[in-house]
Amino acid sequence: MKILTLSNCFFFALTLPLTTITLSAAHAQQPVSGYDYLTPEMQEMQIDDFGNPGMLTVDAGEIRFSTAGKNGKSCASCHGDDGSKLDIKHIASYPVYSTALKKPLTLRGQILLCQDERIGGPSLGHSSAEALQLEAFVRRLALGETVNVDVSGEMAPYYEAGKNLFHTRWGQVDIACHQCHVYHAGRTFRGQTLSQGQSNGFPGYRYTAGKAVSTPERITGCLANLRAEPYASDSVEYINLEVYMNARGNGLKIETPGIRY
Ligand code: HEC
Ligand code: HEC
Repeated sequence: MKILTLSNCFFFALTLPLTTITLSAAHAQQPVSGYDYLTPEMQEMQIDDFGNPGMLTVDAGEIRFSTAGKNGKSCASCHGDDGSKLDIKHIASYPVYSTALKKPLTLRGQILLCQDERIGGPSLGHSSAEALQLEAFVRRLALGETVNVDVSGEMAPYYEAGKNLFHTRWGQVDIACHQCHVYHAGRTFRGQTLSQGQSNGFPGYRYTAGKAVSTPERITGCLANLRAEPYASDSVEYINLEVYMNARGNGLKIETPGIRY
């Protein structure tokens, strides 16, 4: 006998009312941060720099930011000590369209590009701990900035592709992201409240996993629960999903590192 009873019940409980609910007119949704669904204890932990375990990842990124690469330069050589010369409003607008690459560039993609081309490597894997630390540090600089992703023009098709993925039914469980994170947002099941699945707290600290994770890693967590095959961290699918998800959260404040379930 499988020990999947809890999650099976969970999905079963969710599947039942879906037919009726999905038939109702698609309702526009104001973005709400995952923070608003947390317990007061977890909210308090997030906003306390000393109590927030995600800050360890940010701090590791800060050290890495001023560590020299193969050409003797560090990130700080160009972007200032502590990243003070980075444009934090622009950080809040990632993914952006790269005219050079002719595709969207996520914040992590931009950091890895600088790592390769501007400090001469060593190359960091897209899903490496080092990339996560740098991304967490850079995004933390934009704490409290308003998420503002421009999905017009060249970005439009990627946004649409991400939106389609968000509405695709996944895995053996056969449920789409939006069914849980739009229609069932706010519903509680065994102590876990379904949020809108927003990305403004990421990279963030997953309490249940006991570690910091990026947006792609968080999506992988949901796909695993749906028993669907996850994509590689730098896959086109995850980039498109990040374009859609970040833009869907336009207007929210960046909370990196959020504390989340
Ligand atoms: C030799 C100078 C140089 C170094 C060293 C460098 N960068 Fe950059 N970085 C740039 C330039 C120039 C841009 C502007 C974007 C572009 O045109 O590619 C940029 C853009 C960025 C951005 C986007 C900021 C924005 O406003 O869009 C981030 C984030 C960033 N770099 C992070 C890093 C990190 C992390 C490192 C270390 C791994 C690093 N950079 C090393 C020159 C540098
Ligand atoms: C069966 C329901 C279900 C489905 C379907 C689902 N998720 Fe989730 N997801 C959860 C639960 C439960 C959590 C943890 C509680 C919360 O924040 O909703 C979560 C959390 C998240 C979070 C973190 C939000 C935050 O602020 O902490 C993101 C991002 C996310 N999901 C994205 C996705 C994406 C993308 C998909 C589709 C590929 C998806 N989810 C499909 C149940 C689901």
